Amino acid sequence: MKTDCAIWANGELRYAGVNDHEIDLFEGQYAVPHGVSYNSYVILDEKTAVMDTVDGRFADAWLRNVEKALDGRKPDYLIVQHMEPDHSGSIMAFAEKYPGAVIVSTQKAFGMMNQFFGTDFADRRMVAAEGGKLPLGRHTLAFYTAPMVHWPEVMVTYEETEKTLFSADAFGKFGALDWAEDWTDEARRYYIGIVGKYGAPVQTLLKKAAGLDIQKICPLHGPVLKENLEKYLKLYSIWSSYQPEEKGAVIAYASFYGHTRAAAELLAEELQKAGFGPVVLRDVYRDDWAATVADAFRYSHLVVASPTYNGDMAPKMEAFLKALSARGYQNRVAAVMDNGTWAPMAGKAMKAALESCRNVTVVEPVVSIRSAMNDENKAQICALAAALIQA
Ligand code: FEO
Repeated sequence: MKTDCAIWANGELRYAGVNDHEIDLFEGQYAVPHGVSYNSYVILDEKTAVMDTVDGRFADAWLRNVEKALDGRKPDYLIVQHMEPDHSGSIMAFAEKYPGAVIVSTQKAFGMMNQFFGTDFADRRMVAAEGGKLPLGRHTLAFYTAPMVHWPEVMVTYEETEKTLFSADAFGKFGALDWAEDWTDEARRYYIGIVGKYGAPVQTLLKKAAGLDIQKICPLHGPVLKENLEKYLKLYSIWSSYQPEEKGAVIAYASFYGHTRAAAELLAEELQKAGFGPVVLRDVYRDDWAATVADAFRYSHLVVASPTYNGDMAPKMEAFLKALSARGYQNRVAAVMDNGTWAPMAGKAMKAALESCRNVTVVEPVVSIRSAMNDENKAQICALAAALIQA
């Protein structure tokens, strides 16, 4: 999925970003086996504008891309929509190479520039206010603040002639642009992981976007979105309102010797036999944690299963449930299965963690295994499957 160098038919918007295949963990925590792109765009008009920079490790390659896109011209403006270092890390390199360029950003972003770089570019800056406009010639940029999508200083930019939204982190995805894959799964993992906590601010941004005629979306990660934009807007509306995308279940388990896994597998089998819908089994120790979190947001039902450890649930299960609650997990049906050879306690702890989330209903029975499943446990699991199907 390669982004065309020329994005507008007239060639006046050019891609200047880079692919990062060197990175192992995005933000030091999210696995990105197919890399990530840091997008940057160049607008050529009577005035020229560069939209955002890239991670500082790629400053040289990006500056070459910018120079090529500028086609012999100098940049008049650098528009900084977001100060997270994956986009702001090359601002200083740009500012040094192009001392005549004006830096355009929000007041809050200039404060962050001072923190990151020791300068807020007081002698060469333009503060973008909500609804503020910057005419470039045939094109005009309009700025809209988007606080907490995904940092407080963020703004997005709408180009009025070509009806293009430069959406900052919104509508981005993991995966470099030279890696072909469907948008949805990696966009969901990216959104839920990174922006998931900020549903209300995303809803505010979507309301602003609804007032604009948007024909193209240029995010800071992932491909430019040119067609079927309703699909992306609808998914963002679902994700940011914490509604499930579809009926289905995630069974997330920890298992030290396979007994708890066997219970999870039996429940999956029972649900599948009953034609419940998609059922996803995830090992919280072995599977990608961010994918498990994203799947929990994708589906309507969540079952957690864990052995007892130090009088509590397994540590990675605790981390998983904390990752859900930290992102505002809500509006779901849940169930609990635990295991304990002498004093099963995980069920109580998992139930309390789920019930601390808004509008999460934990259905009965709580299945409690003593070491290995017995016939009573198997019957309880069948009853739990029936209860989940009813809920
Ligand atoms: Fe892609 Fe919040 O930075």
